[in-house]
Amino acid sequence: MLVGNKEYKTVWMEGTSVFMIQQNLLPFEFKVHECKTYWDTCIAITDMVVRGAGAIGAAAGFAMAQAFLTIGTKERLKMIREARSDIENTRPTARNLFYAVDRVYRAGLESTEKAVAEAESVAREDEENSKAIGEYGAALTNEKANILTHCNAGWLAFVDYGTALAPVYLAREQGKEVFVYVDETRPRAQGGRLTAWELKNAGVPHVIIPDNAAASLMAQGKIDMVITGADRIAANGDTANKIGTLGRAILAKAFGIPFYIAAPTSTFDMNCATGREIPIEERSQDEVLYQTGTDANGHLIKVLVCSPGSPAYNPAFDVTPARYITGIITEKGMVTADRLSIKKLMKKD
Ligand code: MRU
Repeated sequence: MLVGNKEYKTVWMEGTSVFMIQQNLLPFEFKVHECKTYWDTCIAITDMVVRGAGAIGAAAGFAMAQAFLTIGTKERLKMIREARSDIENTRPTARNLFYAVDRVYRAGLESTEKAVAEAESVAREDEENSKAIGEYGAALTNEKANILTHCNAGWLAFVDYGTALAPVYLAREQGKEVFVYVDETRPRAQGGRLTAWELKNAGVPHVIIPDNAAASLMAQGKIDMVITGADRIAANGDTANKIGTLGRAILAKAFGIPFYIAAPTSTFDMNCATGREIPIEERSQDEVLYQTGTDANGHLIKVLVCSPGSPAYNPAFDVTPARYITGIITEKGMVTADRLSIKKLMKKD
């Protein structure tokens, strides 16, 4: 994607370093962050310097490759296995992270060069799949469409293009009139900060709405469709995504509005029979209690926005049961959220 006049990916590797757009500074500052070791990359994933299912998948794959590249010969395999578990312990919910680490680890057992090549393939496929999702998704949008999205499943959440926003970008290129309602997405405001930044850069008309405004807008007939991303999809179609997604899905069903999930097949976890088995990350209460922004002089500051001394609970994801999902848009086409259709999809080339 273009930032200014320069083409960027969200995350990439050069030599033994992993580079990523520093998302926890956006939209206030645009910086590239360098991770020199696999451990630096782990910290960047945990701290959400890089975030979003596909982007953390690619970053985790690169981190695994860094481990093969930099860990010396003494007890090498033992240390590489420890590195694998360090990477897997960064964030528990996004399936893409485990998918990428597993692929790169297996390749690395053959040679370090193969580990690096596999990590590059994971990142390249993430980008290609996102583009294909955009094409299938754009075909679902009318000539004029008001779309609601939650969190950020744009290009920042993947290596490029994104999933939920890829259909928006593609539909615009096709000359369709799309307007995006952007859920702010507390507590980290991925919508208000990242999705809005992406859409503004791309010249897509949009408005940020508070998280509790969706029902009212739907009741007024202002939303034609909802598209969100996914962090993990169980074999029966139950889908984990950013906290708050479940509420949007229930509302969409109540108002008869199509609710789509856009995600590559690397997000499906056939080992999770239902959404109940999907691990849900709980993050620091500080993310709820404090907000970061800029002061009048443009300096980044962190402020307490809740009653001092009260504790907060911060589950990062929720699970939307398959019955609320109109369809899942993947790089292989649209699939209905049921066990049989998903099984067939996963076998398709
Ligand atoms: O910002 P994160 O990594 O906590 O959130 C993950 C996500 O990006 C969203 O849940 C998104 O909608 C899934 S698709 C990237």
